[in-house]
Amino acid sequence: MNRTMLWAMFTPETTAAELFPLDPAASQPLYRQIYERVRGAIASGVLKPGDRIPSARALTKELGLARGTIDTAYALLAAEGYVQTRGQAGTIVTPDLKARAPVASLPSRPEVGGAASFRPDTILPFQMGLPALDLFPRKIWAQLGAQRARAMQPADMVHPSVFGLPALRTGIAAYLQVSRGIDCAPAQVFVTSGYRHTLSLIAKALLTAGDLVWVEDPGYPPTRDLLGQMGLKPAPVPVDRDGLIVSEALRAAPHARAAVVTPAHQSPLGVSLSLPRRLALLDWARRHDAWIVEDDYDGEYRYVSRPLPALKSLDRDHRVLYAGTFSKVLLPSLRLAYLVVPPNQVERFEATSQGFTGGSPELTQSIVAAFIAEGHFARHIQRMRRLYAERRAMTVAGFEAVLGSRFAIDAQPGGMHLLLRPRDGRADRELVAAMREAGLFGEALSDWAAGGQGAQAVLVNFTNIASREAAEALARRLVMA
Ligand SMILES: Cc1ncc(COP(=O)(O)O)c(C=O)c1O
Repeated sequence: MNRTMLWAMFTPETTAAELFPLDPAASQPLYRQIYERVRGAIASGVLKPGDRIPSARALTKELGLARGTIDTAYALLAAEGYVQTRGQAGTIVTPDLKARAPVASLPSRPEVGGAASFRPDTILPFQMGLPALDLFPRKIWAQLGAQRARAMQPADMVHPSVFGLPALRTGIAAYLQVSRGIDCAPAQVFVTSGYRHTLSLIAKALLTAGDLVWVEDPGYPPTRDLLGQMGLKPAPVPVDRDGLIVSEALRAAPHARAAVVTPAHQSPLGVSLSLPRRLALLDWARRHDAWIVEDDYDGEYRYVSRPLPALKSLDRDHRVLYAGTFSKVLLPSLRLAYLVVPPNQVERFEATSQGFTGGSPELTQSIVAAFIAEGHFARHIQRMRRLYAERRAMTVAGFEAVLGSRFAIDAQPGGMHLLLRPRDGRADRELVAAMREAGLFGEALSDWAAGGQGAQAVLVNFTNIASREAAEALARRLVMA
């Protein structure tokens, strides 16, 4: 069957001319073309709610394309609610689609080929932000889960505390003391549902619309986006090998009210904020009554030395808000993170949380609390640190062998991703779009820059690459992209 005929599969009576074939020569990536075709067919009523569409496997075969291309297109369609995958029953157009906004009038999404916020529905090789999913201690987790569920009392069945489960707050405070050098009481720890929740809570409690906030450039795009959505003004500050250039920040935005930094491993460049810069930042915050948000998303994972103490451990003047998360050290699907506030801000944060937070799932918090209290957490982190050091080394070796002539490979001292810098001047967004076509994940460094320009590199996660052979095989797929 050729490509043209494929589209007739959607509805036997529809001609291929109406549903037009894919155009391999078009600048639009193939996954995007498939996505647009299906969406267009739904919008025009050719495909109706409940209609079956070909399974990703069948479509892969019919089109003779990489499975990843179809998966990426279907993942986008599913993420936007157009289709539902029903295991054996196949993939169908979402039955209640009519009840939603008319499909035809939905604004078309911006091109996601290179956007940094892309979250596929399936797990793709190199997918950013994921810990090693194969070695999560499922057995212990399942035992603790069953135990905690059995132990539930009526008091555990009502609305949870909006500040977090007391046992978890205590466990986090003890862990931070030992592992990150942070001296805090459980009352200073607020459990949240992720970094965005943490940052919103800080902004609501301490900042006012219109306030300038220093952000790293390049830096984690959700930070900039969220601050903007909250009416704050992100002021991008360049980063060099010592982290955020504080003197530059003072020159460009002297009246900023806050700074958001990733001191352990700058996201995405992986450099650490040097001690002089840490002290300069703390000094600025003290003199200006400004706030520093320390986003310590993966501080535990350092491979060239022991993890560096957190910036918060130097915070004598109570200006640092420490944001931690369980996404990297356990699993992102838990949706549990935490915030440590200075002792003199506890009341303010309690008041803000009461008005703004609904609390996090009690049972999950209780499992994590038991996981920490029984020593599994510390052991798991140690094990993952060793594992990631190995996987990082194997990935670098495999990549060097296959990709060394095409890319300079930046192995950073910590973190969970590598930077591949094209030697031939190829644009990183173009590379990322081609990688997605080939069913590989990647993010373009230029998408992490405030102006959308600058150094070109592709960010790839290595924590799920289990051998040098696997790294080489993936590298060969990347070469074909
Ligand atoms: C820079 C940075 N900060 C924070 C986070 C944690 O986000 P969350 O707690 O919502 O998973 C991540 C996760 O990818 C990150 O990359």
